[in-house]
Amino acid sequence: MMHLINFKGLSGQQIMEIVDMGIDVKHNPEKYRDSLRGKSLAMIFQKTSTRTRVSFEVAMTQLGGHAIYLDWRATNFTLADIYDETKYLSRNVDCILARLLRNSDLQVMARASRVPVINGCDEKYHPTQVIADLITMKERKGALRGVKLVYVGVHNNVCNSLIEACTKVGIQITTVTPIFNEPSRDDDLLEEARRTGLWRTTLDLREAVKDADFVYTDTWVDMEFFLDPKYAEERERRMRIMMPYQINRENLAGSSALIMHDMPIHRGYEISEEMIEDPRSIIYEQSENRLYSAKAILLKLLGE
Ligand code: CP
Repeated sequence: MMHLINFKGLSGQQIMEIVDMGIDVKHNPEKYRDSLRGKSLAMIFQKTSTRTRVSFEVAMTQLGGHAIYLDWRATNFTLADIYDETKYLSRNVDCILARLLRNSDLQVMARASRVPVINGCDEKYHPTQVIADLITMKERKGALRGVKLVYVGVHNNVCNSLIEACTKVGIQITTVTPIFNEPSRDDDLLEEARRTGLWRTTLDLREAVKDADFVYTDTWVDMEFFLDPKYAEERERRMRIMMPYQINRENLAGSSALIMHDMPIHRGYEISEEMIEDPRSIIYEQSENRLYSAKAILLKLLGE
């Protein structure tokens, strides 16, 4: 049995199999219509979500299965041990998708579960998003090996998963990250990526995007802190440091890179209003691909 907590247990070829499955299921939905008939997915969220929740729920419906949404605060996970609650859950469903605040709690879930556990985004990784990103880049370029991606923003969970997956499938990834979000730190992941020679980091945004195929940005503040008054000072500090790295016309001058963003977007912060709708933006196409990413992951973990 396999979990999807990050990409550590997967080879580049295995990641590519999921990506190719996502593209196939996108073009041939009928072929997979009953693939997960009778299967149930429990989706438990400690944090807000639009895309992760919707894409996995629709994916289960379209694959012939069923999804159960669980708001963490309305369950007995709030009162009891995560280990015990997961032991029960995994005896009544075929798969668990969990968006938790802490990766350490997700690791407990994975240990307790007798069915696959999918990481729906924690403070360290966001693997389901990155499968959608790889699908999007492959659709645009035809192949992933040799593609040049620049990630501009705070070094966070999405950045980790991009570095991990890109260096495994042969994408050259450059990160422009003036701030490192410490809770996301995974030095082993970065060391492994460094050894491939495919990851580099710089603060020279203009130079980095010059010959990039794709430029990718993300929120500067993690979702759980965005509206938190206690975080206001740190939020202001981040805005001051990050604003020169906004994805805007000036910073992309001379670059023909396509623009990506995993959403939700904070207009006028990590990306200017006009670049969201620019002809180079493939943001909504990328977000649509969350559905095919979800289907491919479920088929990989649950399919016959
Ligand atoms: N990108 C992403 O994970 O979106 P949600 O937070 O809306 O699920």
